[in-house]
Amino acid sequence: MNILILGGGGREHALAWAVKQNPKCDRLIVAPGNAGIALLAECAALDILDGAAVASFAEENAIDFVIVGPEAPLAAGVADTLRAAGILTFGPSGAAARLEASKAFTKEICDACGAPTAGYARFTDRAEAEAHLRREGAPIVIKADGLAAGKGVIVAMSETEALEGLAEIFGGAFGEAGTEVVIEEFMEGEEASLFVLCDGTDVLAIGTAQDHKRAGDGDTGPNTGGMGAYSPAPVLSDAVLARAMDEIVRPTVAEMARRGTPFEGVLYAGLMIRDGHARLVEYNVRFGDPECQVLMLRLGAQALDLVHACAERRLAGIQVTWADDHALSVVMAANGYPGTYAKGSQIRGLEELPEDSAHMVFHAGTAERDGTVIANGGRVLNVTARGATLREAHDRAYRMVDRIDWPGGFCRRDIGWRAL
Ligand code: AMP
Ligand code: GLY
Repeated sequence: MNILILGGGGREHALAWAVKQNPKCDRLIVAPGNAGIALLAECAALDILDGAAVASFAEENAIDFVIVGPEAPLAAGVADTLRAAGILTFGPSGAAARLEASKAFTKEICDACGAPTAGYARFTDRAEAEAHLRREGAPIVIKADGLAAGKGVIVAMSETEALEGLAEIFGGAFGEAGTEVVIEEFMEGEEASLFVLCDGTDVLAIGTAQDHKRAGDGDTGPNTGGMGAYSPAPVLSDAVLARAMDEIVRPTVAEMARRGTPFEGVLYAGLMIRDGHARLVEYNVRFGDPECQVLMLRLGAQALDLVHACAERRLAGIQVTWADDHALSVVMAANGYPGTYAKGSQIRGLEELPEDSAHMVFHAGTAERDGTVIANGGRVLNVTARGATLREAHDRAYRMVDRIDWPGGFCRRDIGWRAL
């Protein structure tokens, strides 16, 4: 099978790594890829938001299967264009990607199918939104409706903070994404993520994870795209998971099918768990980053069989083979992230690290310059390890971190603390 993966972050490096383990993969191209991906696959410069360009590229290169990594091409309808061209694709249609691209749409689906989630109200008028805020009081959660690269959510602990958040969103800080605002009830509990393959009809849970959103140790500092993750998430016990599948995921998938916009791809359910009961925080329509890195290290080669069966709508009867293991990933970011940071600092020592089924450094934002690896983004490396226990995975990951010579970067030292 000739495979094309779209994207160029740590998530796509992990996907490429897993796909490459599988003997069914003949040729692997990743567009645009990065310096780490280039060590195991061909990288191609391609505008991945341009569905027609991706389809022609796939045809020219005799691609049998396309895996779409990030949300932007999905929301832009790239999977629709590829399917229309007869190319087997993993990733939802633009219409189904609205589950991530519009928070108001997700709420509408939850209402229609009875999935438990936070109470909410929607506003396009700032004065009405402010009046609602004053009535409800804090804590409260304010969300820009559209895609805001993970930044359009303000969890406000005071009314002042909430009003400032509203001013920011209506003031245009998130552009088009902020023309509508969703104001939500604040949910207490422990957060975890559930990843479910959906082929439009059937569903298959393929793993759970927890991440760390704050930049600093002890969950302090600004919010980020994620500073580390581990899998499985102990809070998502078999019983909690089964109930979340029955109350949230299956009804959502059925409602999407009923509307004529079946969801095909990986549904990432962000859940808030309290007293053994999960409520939906949000959906994403792709693998989490860095959650994908821990899932792929655990799944290995079978990941290709699973996403391929999903794309071919053959999930009924497919099973996941789980080892009783744990994986943990530490994100190394450029100093200053998530604020302003410099690009171009040199990273040394990577080639001396072990690379096997228990140790992988996935590249998130790197480039190659004169034979050395340089930082080329905010989140730069995902140092990922697997073990029989979470403690073992943790210690293996941090042993690798300590051998990486990169004065221009930092990481959290407490990934996994909650489960350890
Ligand atoms: P989202 O982009 O919707 O995942 O929101 C980002 C983060 O904000 C989530 O991961 C939660 O930590 C938090 N959050 C979002 N909605 C709520 C809510 N209704 N109650 C409490 N926390 C929330
Ligand atoms: N790690 C959070 C996300 O991928 O959205």
